[in-house]
This record gives sequence, C-alpha cells and structure tokens, in this order.
Amino acid sequence: MVVRSWVAGCGAYLPQRIVTNAELADRLRTSDDWIAQRTGIRQRHVAADGELTSDLATHAAEAALKSAGLTGDDIDLVVLATTTPDHTFPATATQVQARIGMTRGAAFDIQAVCSGFVYALAIADNFIKVGQAKTALVIGAETFSRILDWNDRSTCVLFGDGAGAVVLRAGEGKGTVADRGVLTTHLFSDGRHYKLLYVDGGPSATRTTGHVQMEGREVFRHAVVKMGEAVDAAMAAMGIEGGDLDWLVPHQANLRIIDSMGQRLHLPPEKVVVTVDRHANTSAASIPLALAQAVSDGRIKPGHLVLLEAMGGGFTWGSALIRW
Ligand code: ACO
Repeated sequence: MVVRSWVAGCGAYLPQRIVTNAELADRLRTSDDWIAQRTGIRQRHVAADGELTSDLATHAAEAALKSAGLTGDDIDLVVLATTTPDHTFPATATQVQARIGMTRGAAFDIQAVCSGFVYALAIADNFIKVGQAKTALVIGAETFSRILDWNDRSTCVLFGDGAGAVVLRAGEGKGTVADRGVLTTHLFSDGRHYKLLYVDGGPSATRTTGHVQMEGREVFRHAVVKMGEAVDAAMAAMGIEGGDLDWLVPHQANLRIIDSMGQRLHLPPEKVVVTVDRHANTSAASIPLALAQAVSDGRIKPGHLVLLEAMGGGFTWGSALIRW
C-alpha cells in the first residue's frame, strides 16, 4: 500500500463586486468584443476596499472545511498560494490559520503566480506522503486587482480576485491510477523568461508593490507549449491518455489557451471546466475556484479522474492528476 492524499472537500469565495467588460470600456480604449474575442472574459470579481487576500482565503477555507465536515482543529498544514499577500510578512497563511482556529502544525505561503495552486497541492501532497502532515488545507487566493495598472488596457482587463481551497487527508492506495487522491504532480520553472511577465516592484527592488507587466503574445506562445509539456508528463507518469480523463480543469487565463489544451488531449469541450468568462484570470485561485464550481454543480463526482494544469510568471508551470 502507498500513502495517497485524498480530497476531502473543497470551497471557494468570490468578492461581491462584479466589473463587466462594458464597465471597463467606459473608461479605457477597449470593448466587450475585443476582450471577449481575445480572451473569453466577460466579467471579473474585484475585492472591496479593505477586503484582503486573507479575507478571501479564510472564506474559501471555511467553505472547504465545511464540505469536508472538519474544523480548523483537524488541520495540521496550511499551504497558501498567493502573489498578493496581505503584507510583505508574515505569511498570509498564518492569518488564515488563526482565523480558522488552528493552533498546531504549520502554515506558510508559496509564490508561483498562476501555477501557485498546483505548486501548493504538490507541496501538501508530498508532506502527506512522507507523514509530516495528515490533513492539509491547500488554498489559492489573490487580490490581483491591487497590482494592476487600471489605465493599462493590455493587462487590467485580464485579471480578477477570488479564492479557492481544498482539504487533503492522508489515505491509502495501491499505487495505481485506480487509487483515490492525488496520483501524480509535476512542477517546472525557467527563470530566464521572467521579463515576459513580472511585477515592476517589490520590497527589495523598489520598496513599492508595482504593477503587472506582460508581453502578452510571447506569454501566450510559451503557455501553450509549457502546459502541453506538463500535461504530457502527468499522463505518461500514470500511463493514461486524454480519453481516460473525466475532466480537465485548467488554469483560467484565456479561453483560446484552454481550448488548445482540450484539443491536445482530444477532449470534447464539455469535459473542460471553464470559468474564465465569469472570473477572468484569478492567478493562483483560478483552479480551486473552477474545481469548487464543478463539484458544487455536480459535474465532478467521487471517482472521477481530473487533470489540472497551469502556467504563470517565472515562468513556472505544472500539472496534477487527481482521482476525486
Ligand atoms: N482592448 C483593445 N485593444 C487592446 C487591448 C484591449 N484591452 N489590449 C491591447 N490592445 C491592442 C494592442 O495595443 C495592440 O494594438 P496595436 O496593434 O495598435 O499595437 C492590439 O490590441 C494587439 O495587441 P496584442 O497584444 O498583439 O494582442 P493579442 O492578440 O496577442 O491579445 C492578449 C493580447 C489577450 C493579452 C493575448 O496575448 C493573451 O491572452 N496572452 C496570454 C497572456 C496571459 O494569459 N497572461 C496571463 C498570465 S500567464 C497565464 O496565466 C498563462
């Protein structure tokens, strides 16, 4: 028998305020058509003044705990993926830890931008596999709206705020693709490309927070290749093909990228979970938000085989295969 991290629950939270493409077009030289055709995005949620990443993350964590039938007391590890922490330090994860009433174990943030959730999931899975944690909360939470230049139409139309979380619990399996839980994870990075997608600020570089800078076309080109690589790695590791998957839950950056990944796997569009139209790109939160959506509406069911893939600044990219 091998140790597997079973998914015990998931949850999500979106800030109340919705900003439509039309609202952006009122004050920028853009249009609903341009944004929707290039990206598939129709609207995004934006956090209220004073609503912080830890607030979004705590709501998502509470929803995930509720769906798992657990409380903060049961958790011994929080891994929170974010690019937009409340403060430079301490880790936002420790704020969530306090607010869910967890007083033991460890809580820390990880930073892999849009790949953050896949990174956090891989880290928590590895902690569970070596026996260093039994029950982990894996969170992706972002207030990306705070690092956007709202006058830069080439970036500000693409992103939104939100949070999602899953609870992982130590379980057992036979080491096959029929096992429940996280079956395989694959992480990659290549720091040579950082100038294609980065924030021009930070405590050490400028003592400011900065804004997102992006070479959109180049990022698009790399995204398709790199996420393809990550997906292939997961399928090869478990000896499966696209047709074996029940669901592809991709990072939600751009509908054209999502479609190309679905086509690569020969998956019909109805097997690909899409939320980018309503959430835009919520960076580390996008995959757990999409998972929570597809679980709550009854699409993802226990026993289903679910492939996650993401790519983000760094560049970082990765994949995870889960038997739900
Ligand atoms: N509204 C109207 N026009 C715009 C807008 C806008 N919001 N933004 C840019 N334009 C203009 C540009 O100025 C340019 O005009 P010009 O030809 O007069 O110079 C024209 O549209 C074309 O610009 P491109 O950047 O070449 O447009 P492209 O077709 O590549 O689409 C986009 C841009 C949507 C950003 C696309 O490149 C993309 O989605 N790239 C991937 C980026 C991404 O997803 N990043 C997220 C983080 S990484 C990740 O999550 C995978």
